Amino acid sequence: MDKILVLDFGSQFSHLICRRIRETNVYCEILPYNTSARLIDKFNPKGIILSGGPARVYLENSPKPDKKIFEMGIPILGICYGLQIIVDTFGGKVKKSINREYGSAELIVDNKCDLFDSIGNKIKCWMSHGDAAEMIPEGFKILAHTENSFSAAIGNQNKRFYGVQFHPEVINTERGTDILKNFSEKISEAKPDWTMESFVEMAIADIRRRVGKERVLCAVSGGIDSTTVAALLQRAVGDNLRCVFVNHGLLREGEEDMVVRNFDRHLGIRLIHINAEKQFLRKLKGIHDPEQKRKIIGEQFAVVFDNLAKKNGPFQWLAQGTLYPDIIESGISKGPAAVIKTHHNVGGLPKWLKLKVIEPLGSLYKDEVRRVARILEVPDVLLRRHPFPGPGLAVRIIGEVSADKLRIAKHASKIIEDELSTAGFYENVWQAYAGVGDDKAVGVLGDERVYGHIVIVRVVESIDAMTANWARLPHELIAKISNRITNEVEGVTWVTYAVSSKPPSTIELQ
Ligand code: XMP
Repeated sequence: MDKILVLDFGSQFSHLICRRIRETNVYCEILPYNTSARLIDKFNPKGIILSGGPARVYLENSPKPDKKIFEMGIPILGICYGLQIIVDTFGGKVKKSINREYGSAELIVDNKCDLFDSIGNKIKCWMSHGDAAEMIPEGFKILAHTENSFSAAIGNQNKRFYGVQFHPEVINTERGTDILKNFSEKISEAKPDWTMESFVEMAIADIRRRVGKERVLCAVSGGIDSTTVAALLQRAVGDNLRCVFVNHGLLREGEEDMVVRNFDRHLGIRLIHINAEKQFLRKLKGIHDPEQKRKIIGEQFAVVFDNLAKKNGPFQWLAQGTLYPDIIESGISKGPAAVIKTHHNVGGLPKWLKLKVIEPLGSLYKDEVRRVARILEVPDVLLRRHPFPGPGLAVRIIGEVSADKLRIAKHASKIIEDELSTAGFYENVWQAYAGVGDDKAVGVLGDERVYGHIVIVRVVESIDAMTANWARLPHELIAKISNRITNEVEGVTWVTYAVSSKPPSTIELQ
């Protein structure tokens, strides 16, 4: 399979580059900017994209790629800071620009090279830079300009090195995906053979190769990721797969029954069903810190798996539904991106657990997993469910997980889900839940003054959970949800609606 590699210099758009390339059916991965040329050679990309980033290329210690990448004969496209690296490396000059450009600009194409093939002479492009190339290196030509950038795109067609000062990966750049496609298909000659059908075939072959005749334990939650992993493993290893569903006491209302029933009925998978409610809640007693809660839950999962492996084993493998964004956000890629949260299924498994971990979806984004699930005939009842985090309601409860807050989070979330379904909004939003903390507010119930919990209603729209917008639901719907929660959920006096997007917030409260 042909691949494109994105070297990440810390731009908030690095993921978008990767996604846009994949949308053109070419496989793409992100690696940290300082990945060695040796490793890159092993990855064997057809083309390399240097992402944007916040640094200034002319300052000491600014992030630079391994210089040898320029001698590998592989086409390179630099985007924004990436262009500046190319300019700096080949003897041009980058300076703080007098005309900084942020936002939309008109790009005039001066040279109809492969990069701008069939793009037209003028397009709107998205700029976001304070530095610019003042002098372009020898051997490079100017391919396009804007009013404020005489070198908005440059290229050395012999070496197949290109640079664009604008961001083709954001939707505000017209034909941006086509420009990236020109780089991957025309310049790098990558074949567009990355489809979800081909992923399924490759994943099954890869699982068989790695697992051989060994046995796999797969933890499922009924969410789309772990269900898809189970369906994939079932095809790959058949009887050597056992799936386990653990009730950790932090589930949504009705979840346990629903999952066990549907796995059996639609996928023909009999789940080992473990109720570990008491064990998890006991360990969480008195714990307030969000990261500590995540770590404890991860550890307790490991304890359950270990016991199970002793009882029903031997198992050599533990399969998990970890996705690409989980890996990136947990800082596992060792790139410049900060650790945002320790996703329990990435960072929380202790070293003593003697099971090898297999994560067949580790290279996929959520929407790609949905497409894989359809190919594997995962039933709609499971497919249409909102994603639910491994640590469950613990990350929707601020502070200690108490029985009272659990009851409120469960009941109020059920009301939100029901009302969204009735109004036809459930499937249009990414996630919807009720969060609750320890703060209390005054209310009046009948003639009495009461002091009750504040429920936070969180409803977001997203494509892949990397970014999310708070959902602009009709006021009447929010009013109905609010009324029902204060009327039906004991101990709640106030309901608030979360109007912050990701970034700067995250989807889950903790
Ligand atoms: P955040 O809150 O980081 O969430 O914006 C992004 C997406 O990831 C889910 N999430 C998790 N999923 N284990 C999981 O399996 C976890 O520890 C975890 N934490 C967050 C979250 O529900 C959202 O869809």
